[in-house]
Amino acid sequence: MIIKNSELETVCGVTSKLPDNSLPEIAFAGKSNVGKSSLINALMNRKSLARTSSQPGKTQTINYYNINHELYFVDLPGYGYAKVSKEIKEKWGKMIESYLKNSKQLKKVFLLIDIRHEPSQNDKNMFNWIVYQGYQPVIIATKLDKIKRSQVQKHLKMLRTGLEAGKETQMIPFSSETKQGRDEILLLVDSCINC
Ligand code: GTP
Ligand code: MG
Repeated sequence: MIIKNSELETVCGVTSKLPDNSLPEIAFAGKSNVGKSSLINALMNRKSLARTSSQPGKTQTINYYNINHELYFVDLPGYGYAKVSKEIKEKWGKMIESYLKNSKQLKKVFLLIDIRHEPSQNDKNMFNWIVYQGYQPVIIATKLDKIKRSQVQKHLKMLRTGLEAGKETQMIPFSSETKQGRDEILLLVDSCINC
């Protein structure tokens, strides 16, 4: 797919009602700082439409990007950011859960996990929650440029084992620095239009 047009259309905070969209939605979930907003920018070919930061906890709202007037990319706040209060963590958690549970147009969920590290308990919970809601998450193993090429298969196996994900779970290694994996992800995005 060629993304010709992308714009931030809706921003939802903790108390906002989710928009009643009629286009399909693709959501990007994952731990704080894992690279969700960077992946969205890479897919859109935009440097900084989705705001990124080296500080975790940058995205604190649910942001809907209208893509070619065909679908939405939904950038979710990250979970597991240690430095915010328990109360805020719970609010963000509820917001993410409520989105995954209630969005009528959600067609696909990408769950991002840093390729370098074993999945955390939060990652496992999120994977199971997405499955419980009836979706088959696609795992994007981010920050691929941070490990040696010879280590990639070993690390993918570590993620699969850690999540207890079966063979049916697709995993795509990706780097927002080199854009490796971008085309494969865009093919999946394509398959969500008119689905
Ligand atoms: P929150 O909004 O806080 O949940 O974070 P996020 O998941 O949206 O992460 P973001 O895209 O803001 O990226 C966090 C940091 O990781 C930034 O400093 C990015 O430049 C960096 N980063 C993201 N993806 C990659 C990658 O593929 N490779 C490398 N080397 N750095 C990356
Ligand atoms: Mg973000």
